[in-house]
Amino acid sequence: MKLLHLHNNFNLAGLMLKILILIFLTSCSSQKIDNPYQAYSKRYMISSQGPLSTKAAKKMFEKGGNAVDAAIALSFAISVERPQSTGLGGGGFLLLKTPEEKTPYAYDFREMAPQLSREKMYLDKQNKVVKGKSLNGPLSAGVPGLVAGLLTIHKKFGKLTLKEVLGPSIEIAEKGFKVYPHLAKAIKARSKTLSRFPSSKKIFYRNGRPLRNGETLVQKDLGKTLRRIAKKGIKGFYYGTTAEKIAIENQKAGGIITLQDLAQYQVRLRKPVSGTFKGHKVYSMGPPSSGGIHVLQILNILENDPLEKMGMGSPEAIHLISSAMQLAFVDRARYLGDEDFVRVPTKNLISKKYAVALRKKINPLKANTFDSVKEKTPFPYESDETTHFTIMDAQGTVISSTQTINGWMGSGFVVPGTGILLNNEMDDFATKVGAKNLFGAVGGEKNLIRPGKRPLSSMSPTIILKNSRPVLALGTPSGTRILTCVAQTILNYIEFKKPLFEAVSSTRFHHQWFPNEIRIGSSPFPKSTQKQLINMGHKIRLKPLGCKVQAIGLEKNILHGVSDPRGEGLSLGG
Ligand code: DON
Repeated sequence: MKLLHLHNNFNLAGLMLKILILIFLTSCSSQKIDNPYQAYSKRYMISSQGPLSTKAAKKMFEKGGNAVDAAIALSFAISVERPQSTGLGGGGFLLLKTPEEKTPYAYDFREMAPQLSREKMYLDKQNKVVKGKSLNGPLSAGVPGLVAGLLTIHKKFGKLTLKEVLGPSIEIAEKGFKVYPHLAKAIKARSKTLSRFPSSKKIFYRNGRPLRNGETLVQKDLGKTLRRIAKKGIKGFYYGTTAEKIAIENQKAGGIITLQDLAQYQVRLRKPVSGTFKGHKVYSMGPPSSGGIHVLQILNILENDPLEKMGMGSPEAIHLISSAMQLAFVDRARYLGDEDFVRVPTKNLISKKYAVALRKKINPLKANTFDSVKEKTPFPYESDETTHFTIMDAQGTVISSTQTINGWMGSGFVVPGTGILLNNEMDDFATKVGAKNLFGAVGGEKNLIRPGKRPLSSMSPTIILKNSRPVLALGTPSGTRILTCVAQTILNYIEFKKPLFEAVSSTRFHHQWFPNEIRIGSSPFPKSTQKQLINMGHKIRLKPLGCKVQAIGLEKNILHGVSDPRGEGLSLGG
């Protein structure tokens, strides 16, 4: 209307104003989705790994819902859209910063070990780890926490009804959607386990073979389960029909989750871990995740180094950052576990003083060997599936959440009649101290299995404030790489001052002490850089890291969303 009016009263000033308004409108509100990976907006922004899920969140804003409604709708939708990554049978963490509260809420809805679980449950009589036992089938599943977490958060902060926020996920499940390449790849990769269970085959197979790219995936039973949750809330999952099916069917198939385990599942509201970095306040997830502690530790170790001068991607900077990562992972193995069960010296681990001591262990010209930083035993390597999303609105509400069923397609076991694919999160425990796991690494003592305990995670949903205002929120999937990808993206944005898209999309690297090497992801650094790193004593391995960072920045009052272009996600604002 305003534009028309201006047009009718044509003059130079009017034309200038019109152009300015047009520029403002195109840059701030109406996003043409020709670039799904980047968006700018004024009122709210969503970055997630699933286009349907991002749109589900947007729908909630359009209905008059708030950022929490959007986050809950997104979480349920992505449970349907990315069954390889997350689902009702999984768990996760969610950081929520409201404009009213100084400190973000940190919700922990991580899976819990069933009451019948035992420290040695994945070992044979000779105390040897039975290959695959903690990864495949119902015995690898922890008690799912996702639904309890989402409903708890919605109840406290949501504006819309459960029926409204579950609407999009029910529709996606019942109508179905086209299988995309990453999902097809995951189904195929896990076909051996999926095909063991007729209930899994029924959904993810067609004509006796794994669903292919472009075919439609319909999840009717999952739709029914979602409807039960919409109608009955927590009782629609942890009690009654759904719970009975989970308990009976998983036990029939060799699992140990009971009705009591489900009824006793506890969401925990934790204090996030926090620290500072170059004038910013950083909040992230504490135990049972190792992620936040080590993101802070890595930033602390590097805070006084002139990284920006060295240059992003310079051998000197890569060496220092990798060496800081290496040291963080030594501590991960030694100190981290579920704080409800073991003592974790969080305060010391994230203190600036300790970081100074750690920094002294790094020679600027020479890589540390495995033994020179060795303390006790290394930790297990993790698989590379999970999902992350980030939402921010103009009022200062920020949500950063990482959710997972652990490995691709979790345990591979769909609870018959429910569409719920159970997680294989039990593999995130140390199956035995010193035992090599599937990835050739060994486990730490504080992370041994105990009934009711939560397995150690690397998930690092993170929120960063400057002058008390949220300026960046981010996270990513990809096992142990999560925390190094998050730390690196923060460095790229805040220390190297790169635009957010570049900070997210540039070449990444990872060091986790064991194996003692720098893993360099897609579009690796030039050969000359690699050579200099080798000359410093590093081993180099070229292999994508699997991280798909979902970030939102607040830049001059404009919300800037970036969904990692390595994935199939979507950033969308309004
Ligand atoms: O909690 C963890 O750290 C793992 N279960 C996450 C697994 C994961 O990220 C796989 N990723 N893409």
